[in-house]
Order: sequence, then C-alpha cells, then structure tokens
Amino acid sequence: MSDTALEVNGLSIKFGDFTAVENISFSVKRGEIFGFLGANGAGKTTTIRMLCGLLVPTSGSALVGGLDFRDGGRGIKKVVGYMSQKFTLYNDLTVGENLAFAAGLRKLAPAYAKKRREELFALIGFDRPLSAKVAALSGGIKQELALAAAMLHDPEIIFLDEPTSGVAPASRARFWSLIRKITGLGKTVIVTTHYMDEAEQCGRIALMSAGHLIALGSPQELKSSAFPGPMAEIDFKGLAAAEFLPGLRKAAGLLELAPHGMRWHAAFTDKASMDAALAGLSRQAALALIKPSLEDVFIRLVEGAGR
Ligand SMILES: Nc1ncnc2c1ncn2[C@@H]1O[C@H](COP(=O)(O)OP(=O)(O)OP(=O)(O)O)[C@@H](O)[C@H]1O
Ligand SMILES: [Mg+2]
Repeated sequence: MSDTALEVNGLSIKFGDFTAVENISFSVKRGEIFGFLGANGAGKTTTIRMLCGLLVPTSGSALVGGLDFRDGGRGIKKVVGYMSQKFTLYNDLTVGENLAFAAGLRKLAPAYAKKRREELFALIGFDRPLSAKVAALSGGIKQELALAAAMLHDPEIIFLDEPTSGVAPASRARFWSLIRKITGLGKTVIVTTHYMDEAEQCGRIALMSAGHLIALGSPQELKSSAFPGPMAEIDFKGLAAAEFLPGLRKAAGLLELAPHGMRWHAAFTDKASMDAALAGLSRQAALALIKPSLEDVFIRLVEGAGR
C-alpha cells in the first residue's frame, strides 16, 4: 500500500434536491489520525458512508487504500473497517456471538477469525468471557469490543463515527489510547467527534459545515489561521456585560467576540488594537491573554458562518 490511505476529489452527494455533501476534497496519509469535526447534520456520517462504499456519491471520485471506490464496494470493504454511529453490537447476544456474526458477514475462515479475535482481545485488553452478554458490559468496554469487531478482517483504514459519544471521560481517554496504538501499527484512523479535547488529539482535522469542508489542518494550524492575532479572556466579574459589549463589538481590529461560560473571548487582528479596545476595561474587568482553543476555532468558523 502506498503512503496515501485516502484521496478524495470533489465528492458530492444529493438526497433528492438536498445536497448533503458538496464538492469536498482531501487526502489522508497512512498512519494518520484524521478527524472530522462539525455540527449535527454537517455531513460527516454521509462522507464516511460514501468512502466505505455504502452510499453512492452523485459526483466526484476517491481512492480508498489505492482502490477506486466505484468497484461496487467489494474491494473497498476488505480494506476498510467501519464502526457506525448508531449501531455497534447486538446487546442480547454474547461477546462470542457478536464476533462470530461479524466474522460471518466478512466470510472469514473460523480459524482466522479466532486468531484475529485473540489478537484484538490482547490489543484492547479485553478479559471478559466470550459467554458474557454484551448488555452487561459498560459503555466504554462495549465500544472497545465494537472496535475489535470492525477490525476483525484486519483492515488498513478504520472509520470510527463518534465512537465515544455517551462514554464516560476515563473510558474516552482509554479509547483514544487505543486509537494511537492502532495508528502506531501503521493503520489509518478517520474519526468523528463532538468532543474538542478529542479533536485536539487528531493529527489533522477536517472541519465540516452544512456539507462543505470549511477548514483543514492540524489543530495548531486551524488555531493560527482562524486567529492570526492575540486573544483576551474577559471576566466582567458580575458586572452587566451588556453595558460593555456594544462598545467592544465596534472596536477596531476585533475579529471575534464570543461568550465562554461566564467569560468572554475577544480576538483581535493585532496587539495594538487589542490594547486600545481593552484599555478602558482594565479597571472593571479581569483580563487575561489566552491561547485560542479548538472550541474558539469552531465558534469562529462554524457558528460564525451563520451570523
Ligand atoms: N438518506 C438520507 N436521505 C435524506 N437526507 C439525508 C440522508 N442521510 C443524511 N441526510 C441528511 O444529510 C445531512 C448530513 O447528515 P449526516 O448524518 O452526514 O450528518 P453528521 O455530520 O454525521 O451529523 P451528526 O453529528 O448529527 O452525526 C443531514 O441534513 C441529514 O438529515
Ligand atoms: Mg453523524
């Protein structure tokens, strides 16, 4: 396999008159952790389903593991693993039955499926009996097992669609250390998430909004291109922020002014503009110079696009 895991060119899909994904292009290197970030309905799942050969695009082309994705899906399905957003495992079946079912779908020889199962149990650190009902497993362990099921046929490229949604924080961290282990083995992981701390752990992120790819880069690149100048955090300390905000909104060089919990983040084009805008505030409010987070990027690029 070449160094490129995915090469996507002008991919679009329409459902009737509605364009769910429009003209997106990107490529993913082998061994990358590539994240999809975007609001509900942005087109993340639809994009993944096209790349897995499960939905037929209206236009565009893609190479998935070097294969043209229009091969009817058969070749592609060998090189990709897919952990879907909605369905992972059957709750009323046992661990063994779920994995046997996954192996059956892939038509894996029993001896090979058993060998893979043991390798994957070692990888995820799974120590429950095969006879355990999936319903009895915790959310985190269930997702790890679902990951194993998606990797049973040893795919090169693994698509994980919100694998940690609704999972406890400690288990999310465990799942992400698994993702790093997998890419460490040379596999490629494409993952969607709504958690900013998870997006921060991706090598690169594709930011989607209303079917468009609106930004692409490493977390650091996204931050520095969305916020080329300084950012201040303003705590009005119980004063009515409404009294100061209209003036601040008109300040020269203001790029973004958005609430973050009880505080406000104000981004400027340059330090002189920031100093001038905040000079009158320093007695009433607590000011701190901060580094923009991915959440700031998201607010500026996704939510800001609608303003
Ligand atoms: N089969 C379909 N028929 C019609 N519209 C669809 C179909 N599948 C998806 N859509 C629409 O396409 C858009 C993109 O949906 P998609 O599920 O890809 O979003 P998403 O980014 O994965 O969102 P979420 O974060 O909620 O999972 C949505 O407006 C959705 O309603
Ligand atoms: Mg989705």
